[in-house]
Amino acid sequence: MRSAERPQMAGARIETWTGRQFSARVEDAMGIYVRAMKYPAHTGAQRAVSARKHASLDGFACRAALTDEGTLVGFGYGYTTRPGQWWHDLVRRALLREEAADWLADAFELSELHVRPDQQGIGIGRRLLTSLASGVPHSAMLLSTPDTDTRAFRLYRDTGFVDLARNYLFPGDARPFAVLGARLPLPG
Ligand SMILES: CC(C)(COP(=O)(O)OP(=O)(O)OC[C@H]1O[C@@H](n2cnc3c(N)ncnc32)[C@H](O)[C@@H]1OP(=O)(O)O)[C@@H](O)C(=O)NCCC(=O)NCCS
Repeated sequence: MRSAERPQMAGARIETWTGRQFSARVEDAMGIYVRAMKYPAHTGAQRAVSARKHASLDGFACRAALTDEGTLVGFGYGYTTRPGQWWHDLVRRALLREEAADWLADAFELSELHVRPDQQGIGIGRRLLTSLASGVPHSAMLLSTPDTDTRAFRLYRDTGFVDLARNYLFPGDARPFAVLGARLPLPG
C-alpha cells in the first residue's frame, strides 16, 4: 500500500518512559509481548523479571504507545550495549573483529519492540522505533530479529538497518536470527 493510500495514522500517543515508569507498567508490557510474539501467557511473568533488570541498565530508553484512555498498546526499549552482557558478547563473537569494534563501541541495543496485534500495521511500531532512534545519544542502534520475512524485518530494512550477521543461532533458541545495525541518526 502506498503511503498516500494508507488510513490515517493510529491515534496512539508516544510517550518517553523512564525505567521506573516502565517497571510500574511491566505486566501490561509483557501482556503485549506474549500476544505479539504468540508465546504462552506464562512466559510473560518470566520475561518481566529480566525486563525489570533491563530498566536499570545504563542508557535505558523506552517509548510507550498509549490510547487516549491510557491503555498501553505498544512499547520499545533498549540500553547501551556493553561487554559482559549476554547479547553483546555473543554478537561480538559473531562479527569480524573490525566490524565488532566499529559497531559495538557506541551502540544502543534495541531489546524489545512490540505492538498489540489488533494495533499492528498502522505505523505505531515505526513511530516507537524512530522516536527511540532520534532520542538516544549513540552512534548506532543494533538488534536481532528472527531471520524470516516478518513485518518486523521489513520495518527494520525500511528504516535503514543493514545486515551484520544472518542465520545466527543464539544459544537456547532453535530459530535463526539476523543481527541488524543502523547508524544514527537514521537515514531520512
Ligand atoms: C514488528 C512490530 C513491532 C511493528 O509494529 P507495527 O506497528 O505493526 O508496524 P508499522 O505499522 O509501524 O509498520 C509495519 C508495517 O505497516 C506499514 N505501515 C507503516 N505506517 C503505516 C500507516 N500509517 N498505515 C498503514 N500501514 C503502515 C509498513 O509499511 C509496514 O508494512 P508491511 O508489514 O507491509 O511491511 C509489530 O508488528 C509487532 O509487534 N510484531 C510482533 C512482535 C515482533 O515481531 N517484534 C519484533 C521482534 S524483533
